[in-house]
Amino acid sequence: MEKKLYIETYGCQMNIADSDVIASVLSGTGHRLVKDPGEAGLILINTCSVRENAEQRVLNRLKQLRHLKKKNPGLIVGLAGCMAERLREKLFDTEDLIDIVAGPDSYRDLPSLVAEAASGKKAMNVQLSRCETYSDILPHSGHDGISAFISITRGCNNMCSYCIVPYVRGAERSRNPESILGEARMHFESGFREVTLLGQNVDSYKWVSGNETIEFHALIAAVAGIDPRLRVRFTTSHPKDLSEELLKTMAEQNNICKHIHLPVQSGSSRILRLMNREYTREDYMSRIEAIRRIIPECSVSTDIISGFCTETDEDHRETLSLMEWAGFDFAFMFRYSERPGTRAARKLRDDVPEEVKTKRLNEIISLQNSLSLRSKKNDLGKIHEVLVEGYSKRSKEDLTGRTSQNKVVVFPGDYRKRGDYVNVLIEKYTSATLKGRII
Ligand code: 5AD
Ligand code: SF4
Repeated sequence: MEKKLYIETYGCQMNIADSDVIASVLSGTGHRLVKDPGEAGLILINTCSVRENAEQRVLNRLKQLRHLKKKNPGLIVGLAGCMAERLREKLFDTEDLIDIVAGPDSYRDLPSLVAEAASGKKAMNVQLSRCETYSDILPHSGHDGISAFISITRGCNNMCSYCIVPYVRGAERSRNPESILGEARMHFESGFREVTLLGQNVDSYKWVSGNETIEFHALIAAVAGIDPRLRVRFTTSHPKDLSEELLKTMAEQNNICKHIHLPVQSGSSRILRLMNREYTREDYMSRIEAIRRIIPECSVSTDIISGFCTETDEDHRETLSLMEWAGFDFAFMFRYSERPGTRAARKLRDDVPEEVKTKRLNEIISLQNSLSLRSKKNDLGKIHEVLVEGYSKRSKEDLTGRTSQNKVVVFPGDYRKRGDYVNVLIEKYTSATLKGRII
């Protein structure tokens, strides 16, 4: 009998890639992906723990799914990913709806976890691994997209004091380059035109085989070498590891997109030290200068946390001034939320009042809005090569795609161009998108 699986994904792009691994593993036991949770016999929620509200969203979603279990008592509900790893058996105590708890390194074991749950037991595997990279599992995306995600490293060895990731994802390990290239080739051959190489810290990718070592810049060059029509992106870069070799490789290869996501977190060297980021404000600035020198057309986006432990108004002003100096094209901006078990939770006091965190965050957001607008304005009158991804969200008369710099562009055109590259003259902009026409 056909078994229907519904997967819902929260958190980062890495989780999107992991959901494809899950779908692939479970296709081996006859599970087929469906789009409607109401149809499914197995629902898996792939979760995120990075901030408290990420977990809250998942708990709220579980409440909404409760009625499905009432209608279909045979329905199996599982929690996968970071929150499963963090909360483990506590989830069974607090959420009676849950039958399976599967940590990020346990997905090969899902068929047996599902079988156990089907026999009425609660099933859990939260073992972290030093070597699991799912390198031999060809992900099953269930969609014929244009853009795919490929995990190249798992876990993280940086110990940023605010961050839960090392605890829920384990130690860093790099994936076999042949399997990465094989996956990228497979995507290209099935019509994808963009791959994004994913890792918590892609720059520390390293594969040693005999006396040969492959580092990230060599890996990305090889992926870009598959075909000039395949765009290659990557995320996330850590400022302490972003190498000149990588910047040079990016400058040399047209199909490596000219965009770097380089989280700064704070503009104050004192706060950066408390965060254990291993760089100062000046180090970060010198990385930006290297980017501008080697790839002048490169866009830079960032992550910023407001209100980390002991942050003063002066520290906050340093963040604003660094943002202004760097002129970030885009940013993800967060209020600090203490995560139990992290070094900051153990050693530092979360002493910035919530209303101060919010006020500072609002100032950061409002500055970034003006920087994003400025960045878009700079594109007026320019011609950008855009990879057509499909219809725009608003209208079936317009297409959408992104520039190499990762800026969204909307323009009139024929859907049959999906997957093609077109040259678009930029004529208008808003804070979120560029608008133009194909020339
Ligand atoms: N509180 C707020 N933001 C956080 N991030 C990670 N941990 C926390 C936390 N405890 C942010 C960082 C990171 C991004 C993925 O999430 O900015 O780069
Ligand atoms: Fe969230 Fe981090 Fe886990 Fe990604 S790796 S899902 S950002 S906690």
